Parts: sequence; structure tokens; C-alpha cells
Amino acid sequence: MENQYKRTLITTALPYANGPVHIGHLAGVYVPADIYARYLRLRGRDVKMIGGSDEHGVPITLKARKEGVTPQDIVDRYHKIIKDSFEELGISFDVYSRTTSDIHHDTASEFFRHLYDNGKFIQQTSMQPYDEEAGEFLADRYVVGTCPHCGSERAYGDQCEACGTSLNATDLINPRSALTNAPVTLKETSHWFLPLDRYEDALRQWILEGHKEWKPNVYGQCKSWLDLGLQPRAVSRDLKWGVPVPVEGAEGKVLYVWFDAPIGYISNTKEILPDTWQTWWKDPETRIINFIGKDNIVFHCIVFPAMLMAYGDNFQLPDNVPANEFLNLEGDKISTSRNWAVWLHEYLRDFPGKQDVLRYVLTVNAPEAKDNDFTWRDFQAHNNNELVAILGNFVNRAIVLTHKYFEGKVPAAGALTDDDRAMIAETEAAAKALTEAIETFHFRDAAKYAMEIARIGNRYLQTSEPWKTAKTDLGRTATVLNLALQLCANLAVAFEPVLPFMSAKLSKMLGIGKLDWDMLGRFDILAEGAAIAQPELLFEKIEDDAIQAQIDRLDRIKKENQIKNFTPEPQQPDVDFDTFMKADIRVGTVVECVKVPKADKLLKFRIDDGMGGRTIVSGIAKHYAPDDLVGKQVCFIANLPPRKLKGIESMGMILSAENADGSLVVIGPTGPVAPGAQVK
Ligand code: 2FM
Ligand code: ZN
Repeated sequence: MENQYKRTLITTALPYANGPVHIGHLAGVYVPADIYARYLRLRGRDVKMIGGSDEHGVPITLKARKEGVTPQDIVDRYHKIIKDSFEELGISFDVYSRTTSDIHHDTASEFFRHLYDNGKFIQQTSMQPYDEEAGEFLADRYVVGTCPHCGSERAYGDQCEACGTSLNATDLINPRSALTNAPVTLKETSHWFLPLDRYEDALRQWILEGHKEWKPNVYGQCKSWLDLGLQPRAVSRDLKWGVPVPVEGAEGKVLYVWFDAPIGYISNTKEILPDTWQTWWKDPETRIINFIGKDNIVFHCIVFPAMLMAYGDNFQLPDNVPANEFLNLEGDKISTSRNWAVWLHEYLRDFPGKQDVLRYVLTVNAPEAKDNDFTWRDFQAHNNNELVAILGNFVNRAIVLTHKYFEGKVPAAGALTDDDRAMIAETEAAAKALTEAIETFHFRDAAKYAMEIARIGNRYLQTSEPWKTAKTDLGRTATVLNLALQLCANLAVAFEPVLPFMSAKLSKMLGIGKLDWDMLGRFDILAEGAAIAQPELLFEKIEDDAIQAQIDRLDRIKKENQIKNFTPEPQQPDVDFDTFMKADIRVGTVVECVKVPKADKLLKFRIDDGMGGRTIVSGIAKHYAPDDLVGKQVCFIANLPPRKLKGIESMGMILSAENADGSLVVIGPTGPVAPGAQVK
């Protein structure tokens, strides 16, 4: 089962430095990659985990333009936030670099030049979107328009975010420039293309024949791309921001971001291993694993491998690409532009010291085989019911009892009973399943098997009742607690990849130096007589108010988005002025307001209208509590005929605006006005 390669190079998709990272990135790429890297290190394998920020591409230049700063300002800002937050979450990169580095520019230029010199590209002229007003070509996201598939009016020239379809700028209905909003015209330009069709047979052979073990979602996507037939793909763009195309006559052109970004894996390896990086990329005894999200499959399984094949020189292809599906948030697609996300740096601020909780929840809920949903209630439940109630509880009981009966020293184990042997066998089985799960990239299962070891511990203490035997047979209590402490040591190992902070704390309490995966399933890890520290809390309960604050934040964002995306109703046909003037609109002060019994929508108002007062019944009970408006001034139509509502005579209508989310907001004057004043 265990692979026989000499070394493993783990790459993680380079996140765009146009925003911070969120839980979708973490669940899809970085947490699973980190689990795998930590596991291999515990096995004593030679492993490097490569990461970095993807600092080119149109979303970055667009953001810079919007903020009136340079693209370099944007990437400097987000690279720092991303790098620092990864570090705080314990993502154990061997290098986290960036694609604006000199070493990357040199490496990407050399790569292009090598392919160019060896005739691996074709040069083609084509008509590309152009903005006459700005005098610039409009690459990818610089074109916006209506999606031909779902009708969304905010589709980009490379993709529709609403329905996920990948598009060409020319597919869009009514395409406009994101720079000036001018209609897009077409202008001739020349670019270099990598003829992917030349590599189709080799790719088929490599993936469809050679890697039937890949995850079905990855294999399936590759198969449909290959079955459709591959086309030449442009590797340059008319843009200012990026790696300049390193050939003559290419002024104003840069490498397409998806050409340079994956080369970043190579540049970043070079950065930490300037002398031996080639071994990590070209020796067949290196195993390369690419951790990515499903939107990156085609680039990692088709485009980048074709680039590596074109380069030759023994560059190795990935042995596996365990891409994940997407994580949603409270039932909606995560979106950077809509701010619909849980941002890592904000999580770390709001839940200090709780890195492992997020790592755990994202692992047990990882979108491994299908899209999955993150909810704050579920987050709370996993923490309170599993980390606290099962794992933390077991460790705490074992250590407290050791202090109570054996002065905090590991007691000697005597003869084992059938129950002890059964518990050991169960632990060995869970440990074996855990190893198998990690080896095959089933990290959800891995976390469950690790938690199973803690469950075994709780059941064991429950059935062997060492607090009872302490009164009659202290030797038996010693055996049980020895085994329970060995189980705690097993947990420190089993959980290290998923919960590294907990594992470090627990190892310290148990006095274990260096952890080793081979300890797993063993019951002689802790020596008899070894000192155990006083128990420290491994996890604490998360209370409802902390969760509610997060839910409230998302509700606020949802509302803001609805307002931002609001399309007003078409204007009504004209009305002549005299007719309009017949509506007598007045200002009144709310004196009293009560709910109308047996009518969940109605509120009854007593209004001071400067004319002796009146009663108005209004259908806004879903939007206001009775007390909310008392003392406030509102506008109402005074000369509507009286109307009976639930037996109450209503003398007019309070004016309100219907907001984007359907809520009603009462309209009133912006300063104090005499009751009865006319609105004109
Ligand atoms: O999808 C993305 O966020 C890209 N920035 C991923 C790049 S992965 C690699 F090729 F660098
Ligand atoms: Zn669409």
C-alpha cells in the first residue's frame, strides 16, 4: 500500500493575490495538502510542499484600477495577508513564494523561450476584443456582457460566474469593455499558441490508460476534454501586467497567466533548492502530487502536462491530481466578488487559538466527491460534540485519573484481560484504516478513523471503570490507565496531520518527543513511570453567541448584495400633474402602535395628524415591532376613502419603500416637521 518513491513533491494551487483566502480554498486544496504532507513527514519520507501566490492575471489589474492603485500594490497587500494567515493556520509549506519574484520571471521566460526556440508554438493572427475608446485590447475579464447560457448580465469574457460556464469574449451577448463600458470591437492581433492537439495521444495514454486510479471526478473531466478533441491554446495576451513575452516583436504582450502560474511550482522549488531542484522535477523516482480545486483540473491534467511534454528534458508529470469539488457557504456558492465567504484572516481574528477547529471541520466536511456545504451551526456542533465531548473529554479523563491515583506517573500495566485485548485490536484496526485513507486521499475518512480512536478510549474507560477498581484492585486501575495513556499517545500521532496544534500540546503533556507514524497502533509508546503533566484543556465549547455573530454577519452581507444587485421596476406610465396633486400626502407623528389581533401582517397606528388625530392600519408587522415607530414621523396619504381591516377603520395609508430583499421601510421626513404638514 505504501508507495515506494524516493521523494514526494506536493504542489498546491497558487491562489490569486486579488483577495484573501477563504474556507473554500482551504477545504479544497490547502488543508488536504497539508494533511498529506504532514503524514508523509511523520513517515520519515522526503517531502516538499510547494505554494505561492499567483500574482498575474486580469482580476488583479481590474482590482488595482478600481482602487486607483498599482497591480503591485494589490499583490503586495494580499500576498502578505495570505502568507501570514496560512502560517497561522499551520499550513506547513516548505516554500510560499510569489509569481512576481525575479526567479519566477526568469524561469517562466526561459520555459517559453525553450518552447519557442524548439518550434513548439504556432503563431496565429486573430480578431480579438478591443476598446476603441481606451485604445487597448481587452483580454479575458476585461470584457463583460450577458451570458448566452444563463442570461446573467455580469458574465466575463472568460467565464460566467453565475453558471460556471467557461466562455470566449465573443460568446457574450452585448459585450462591453470593463474599462470604459464602450461596446467591444474586434481588432487583429498576433499570439503564440500551444497546439494541444499534438499531445492528445500522449495525454490519452498517460491519463486514460495509465491513471485509472485517479478520482472519478478528475478522470471523468479529463476524459470529456480528450473526447471532445484538443485545440491549440493561446499562451500570450495583449496586457501590460505579467511576464513579458521574451521574443522580439512581442512588445505589449505578456504570458497568459495560466502559462506562467504552473511554472511557479518549478520556480518556487528552485527558490528553496537551487542546486537540487532538478531531482525534484526530473527524476522518475520523484512522485508529484497536485492539490487543486475542480476548476483547475484542465490546466493541471491537460495544459501544464502538455507544456512539460513540449519542454522534454525528462520533466515528470504528476502521479496524482486529487482535485476536490467546491465548498458552499450556508447553501450559497462562495464568491470573492460578493464577499460571500468566511475569510481565513477574519476567522483567525474572531476565533483566536481555534485553528484546529477549522481544520477539523473543513476536513470532515471536505467536498471530496461532491460539492458540500459549510454552515456555522455544523461548525459549532463538530466542535462541541466531537472535539470537546469525545477527543478532549477522553484525554482529560485519562490524565486526571492518572494524577488522582498515580501521582501523574504512567502506571505499570499488569496482565491484559480480554477487554484490553479487544480494545487494542480495535485501535489497530482504526489505525490501519486511517493510514489507508490518507494514502488514498480520503481525508474525511481519515479524520473519522482518528476520532474513532478517541471513541474507543471513551468506551474503554466507561466499561473498565478504573475509578471503581481503584477501591478494590489498584493494579487493575494501573493497567487500564496505562493503556488509556497509550491511547492518548496514539491520538497525538493519529491527529497530527489534521490537528497539529492539539497534537503538539498533547505530546507535550505526555512527554513525547518526536512523533512517528509507526507509533500508531502501539501500546508501548509511554514508558512506565514517565511523568505526565497536569491536563490542559485541548478544546473548549463554542457558545451560541459567537456563532450567531457570524450568522448575523452573513445576513448583513446577503442584504448588501441584494441592494447592490437590485434592478428597479420599470417606470409607470406618465400621470398628469393635476391628478398627482389630488393625492394629499401629509406628515404625522406616531403616538401609539399595537399589533392587530389574529392578523400577522397588520399594525394599528394612532397618528397625530395636526387635525385631531387618526387611526391607520398598515401591513408592515413583519418588518417593524410595534414599539419601533412610536415617536417617529411618517408620511401618509390622507385622502383615501376609509377602509375596514379586521374590523378597524383605517383612515389613510402609511408610505413605505419596498427594499431589494422585499422588506418594507417606512418613509418619513429627514427633520422634525409639524404634524399635518403637506408633502409636495
Ligand atoms: O484558480 C486559481 O486560483 C489559480 N490562481 C490557480 C493557479 S494554480 C497553478 F497553476 F499555479
Ligand atoms: Zn451563465
